[in-house]
Amino acid sequence: MSTKQFDVVVIGGGPGGYIAAIRAAQLGFNTACIDEWKNSAGGPAPGGTCTNVGCIPSKALLQSSEHFEHARLHFADHGISTGEVGMDVAKMLGRKDGVVKQNNDGILYLFKKNKVSFFHGRGSFVAAKDGGYELKAGEESITAKHVIIATGSNARALPGLAFDEELVLSNDGALRIPATPKKLGVIGSGVIGLELGSVWRRLGAEVVVLEAMPNFLPTVDEGVAKEAAKLFKKQGLAIELGVKIGEVKTSKKGVVVNYTDAKGGEQKLECDRLIVSIGRVSNTIGLNAEAVGLKLDGRGAIEVDADCKTNLPNVWAVGDVVRGPMLAHKAEEEGVAVAERIAGQHGHVDFDIIPSVIYTSPEIAQVGKTEQQLKAEGRGYKAGQFPFLANGRARALGDTSGFVKILADATTDEILGVHIIGPMASELIAEATMAMAFKASSEDIARICHAHPSLSESTKEAALAVDKRTLNF
Ligand code: FAD
Ligand code: NAI
Repeated sequence: MSTKQFDVVVIGGGPGGYIAAIRAAQLGFNTACIDEWKNSAGGPAPGGTCTNVGCIPSKALLQSSEHFEHARLHFADHGISTGEVGMDVAKMLGRKDGVVKQNNDGILYLFKKNKVSFFHGRGSFVAAKDGGYELKAGEESITAKHVIIATGSNARALPGLAFDEELVLSNDGALRIPATPKKLGVIGSGVIGLELGSVWRRLGAEVVVLEAMPNFLPTVDEGVAKEAAKLFKKQGLAIELGVKIGEVKTSKKGVVVNYTDAKGGEQKLECDRLIVSIGRVSNTIGLNAEAVGLKLDGRGAIEVDADCKTNLPNVWAVGDVVRGPMLAHKAEEEGVAVAERIAGQHGHVDFDIIPSVIYTSPEIAQVGKTEQQLKAEGRGYKAGQFPFLANGRARALGDTSGFVKILADATTDEILGVHIIGPMASELIAEATMAMAFKASSEDIARICHAHPSLSESTKEAALAVDKRTLNF
């Protein structure tokens, strides 16, 4: 059988990889994508962590659990009576699996539409050959002029405590707990801990989150983190900061976590199941990187320059397997930029304006610098803030928690950071990101007509607040 030859081969079919493959094919390259993820029937399931055990299934469960909480606690405010509200966890998980499958199938369709050859199986280097590379794609041998590595990341385990996905859960197990646990322990109050902790709390679990850092959400604007801590506490999410995790024991009865609290006291958390969400590690397992001398950095990520070039000619790496925030949209942006660079174009990613969102209720969204970062840099800035309490649409929605905060340069008024905690913050942050991409000033946003009544009027009012001239507060 003759060896198949490609211009571009992408290893990994997550958001970094599948988007890079589509863009490369659009640019006229003969392109292949290799992905090894299997669905429950052993078939292909492209989309990576994001589609299978990350962004998409977590948002499906967040939506279901939010509906449940609304029906239980808030429908009555609207005059709707429901009687007792029940939750069929198996059905909720089935719906989530359906949403995941729609996305897997969508990517397979996009590969066909864009004429990307898809290989289901492991991709690995065999050797450098004739200025290109010989690769394994499952059982097949193929060659590539350019290789884009997008092999993603895996959940970090606590030392000596492997994930069994029954009692000790990574994001994978945490998204398929078969029945609401009575008591759920979570180690790490980062994004996964808060999102998945919220899901199971809304469904009735008592959730206790143990966090090593002394302050809550240190990478979020301090004012937002303070507001979030207050609101999550009110919702019943118990978060203990400054802990040191000791021995963790599992038995038929559940999990016991021994830890030292912030004051040095010995404590014990007994729970039915434990989610360990203490960050993720880049994944290069199975790539056979040694065969070609691909260089990794000290943390096991693939070493790349600002353009995602590795130490090898014509080998690129994008997404969670390289430095930078582990976010799907960052992986996608890098994938597009690399395909464009291979085509001789000027692919560009602006790392200073990558938005990030925590999908709790209320949502937390940010782009640009936090107030504490600006203070540390000694940069002069003006701040404007507007509460959703004073926004007509938020009142109509019955969701008035949180605020929009805009930070602008003290002299030029250029927007340096936007921080939102409140309803639909994930959607509102797009306007702020666009404004920053166009180097807008806070006055620019203040002068733009925003539809009434809409949550986005709060962004306009926060911009007016920078100049101390809010109209509705
Ligand atoms: P991945 O999505 O990890 O994809 C890598 C793919 O490569 C996988 O399919 C893997 O099987 C495959 N692979 C690996 N090695 C090989 C090999 N040798 N051969 C063939 N295939 C291989 N980010 C957001 O922006 N928004 C969110 O809301 C969000 N929610 C998240 C929720 C959870 C619970 C988790 C865990 C993560 C979430 N993330 C979110 C992060 C997001 O999932 C990642 O940043 C994103 O998936 C990274 O994309 P990637 O393409 O780099 O890697
Ligand atoms: P994270 O980095 O967000 O949070 C990990 C938390 O665990 C930190 O607060 C850290 O201080 C704490 N921690 C670390 N070691 C600890 C220990 N031994 N004991 C107690 N606490 C400890 O990581 P997380 O939540 O696992 O998520 C992984 C990645 O996935 C994130 O980097 C994020 O980018 C991505 N993600 C993004 C989402 C989104 O965009 N909405 C949703 C979920 C995940």
